[in-house]
Amino acid sequence: MSKTIIPEEFQITSEIHQKEYLINGELKKWNGQTTEVYSTISATETYAPTLLGSIPDMGEKEAMEALDAAYKAYNKGQGIWPTMHVRERLECMEAFVEKMKTKRDEVVKLLMWEIGKSLADSQKEFDRTVEYIEDTMEDLKNMDRAAAKFEKHDGVYAHIRRGPLGVVLCLGPYNYPLNETFALLIPAIIMGNTTIFKPAKHGVLLITPLLEAFQSSFPKGVVNIVFGRGRAVAGPIMQTGKVEVLALIGNSKSANALQNQHPKSNRLRLVLGLEAKNPAIILPDADLDLTIDECIAGTLSFNGQRCTALKVIYVHEDIASEFNKRFAERVDALKFGNPWEEGVKLTPLPEPGKPAYIQELIDDAVEKGASVLNEKGGQHMDNYIWPAVLFPVDKSMRVYQEEQFGPVIPVLTFKDIEEPLDDMAESNYGQQVSLFGKDIYAIAPLIDTLVNLVCRVNLNSSCQRGPDVYPFTGRKDSAQATLSVYDALRSFSVRTFVAFKDNELNTATVEQLLEAKLSNFISTDYIL
Ligand code: G3H
Repeated sequence: MSKTIIPEEFQITSEIHQKEYLINGELKKWNGQTTEVYSTISATETYAPTLLGSIPDMGEKEAMEALDAAYKAYNKGQGIWPTMHVRERLECMEAFVEKMKTKRDEVVKLLMWEIGKSLADSQKEFDRTVEYIEDTMEDLKNMDRAAAKFEKHDGVYAHIRRGPLGVVLCLGPYNYPLNETFALLIPAIIMGNTTIFKPAKHGVLLITPLLEAFQSSFPKGVVNIVFGRGRAVAGPIMQTGKVEVLALIGNSKSANALQNQHPKSNRLRLVLGLEAKNPAIILPDADLDLTIDECIAGTLSFNGQRCTALKVIYVHEDIASEFNKRFAERVDALKFGNPWEEGVKLTPLPEPGKPAYIQELIDDAVEKGASVLNEKGGQHMDNYIWPAVLFPVDKSMRVYQEEQFGPVIPVLTFKDIEEPLDDMAESNYGQQVSLFGKDIYAIAPLIDTLVNLVCRVNLNSSCQRGPDVYPFTGRKDSAQATLSVYDALRSFSVRTFVAFKDNELNTATVEQLLEAKLSNFISTDYIL
């Protein structure tokens, strides 16, 4: 990679030694063991990883403190937060998001250094998260207004709202350490739950600038933030049985390991976004210019480190040679560089071991008969491996079977559309698909089948989660529950209501309750 001078505003001028963690409304000092945080991006002429700082390496004791704080703040449903009026909860969230906005530059810089995300994508991640919080607040107001009424059926009145569930354990992924984590945490908090949040393995320091905002915006114990390894921190918390919701974006192995530790799994609600192997299916009449653009974005945005990335391409045999040639050329024409470089599309991989893993997938595929179609495919740099377009791939190859989550692109051909459909039906994953073609007689029956195999069919478009108002979910090992601005509020709450038989005593009592405005639950006021 060409050594470029790092613009002043993106230089690491001082290390961040993160020594605080948030428990019970207090930013506590950590004096125990720490783990150093390195970026795979080099700041020196001769390649060397950059030391960014360090983070606490916590264990069971701190995990229990965090759980205790969250449990007490919920206080069996009597806590300040779960019983608070929605309007006041919204005020706390408003205060938080305003403080968060002031930290944009710091967080964006750390996103680039910690996970190698391009400047544009890092800014987008931050802005999209702020927008997500603001949309969530608006949606909660809508929900609250819709609930500010009484229904009557068969002589029974009901005032129905959504209530919190209890303690929520939130674990996010390293590829979207801000957005995906907050897409769990924010709706969980705003619905009146109390939370414990542990950042992912990379993208941890970027939470540091936000600790104070969490601490000062919410009542004590509502948000508790701990650092350390999942096994050491999350495991013991689950074993207590005091967690009502496990909210995790990551892989099914971790999800299974954690949920299995809960002593009463019937009580545990799961909100999971897990692995995927989204295919692109390219029909013979597909517009190749557009298809190639979308497949480049789908396979290689953030180096393929997205759960929604296109991870396998099925191209009809009639157009395979043209697609392969043009696609491979486009891959080699992409610009690699540090995240802040102009026009950069491929950026350093945050996991030091990733290039070697991708190389294993390439070697396995080549050994079993695939070729690397692009000249640069598989070239190693200090912190990168150039995306290899592998063809023809078959089901015996690891790159077909595993979620590569990185820069390598398996391509298969098909003659009969039943071939990719059968593979999708057999697959462990069921998140999304991209379908490229124009003939509506071919597309129509395919759409009708594909919607039953995955949860989003992208027509002549790459797979993606956004816009965040749309449902984000999956089948099989890909997800459990649905996330979107609208759905997440529902995933982190339960319908709960006050009912009463229509008689003089009850109507008089409820009228008094409404007039006195003593209950935060029974209310017909509108939040505007
Ligand atoms: O890692 C999975 C993310 O949800 C992908 O989101 O499609 O917006 O990049 P995205």
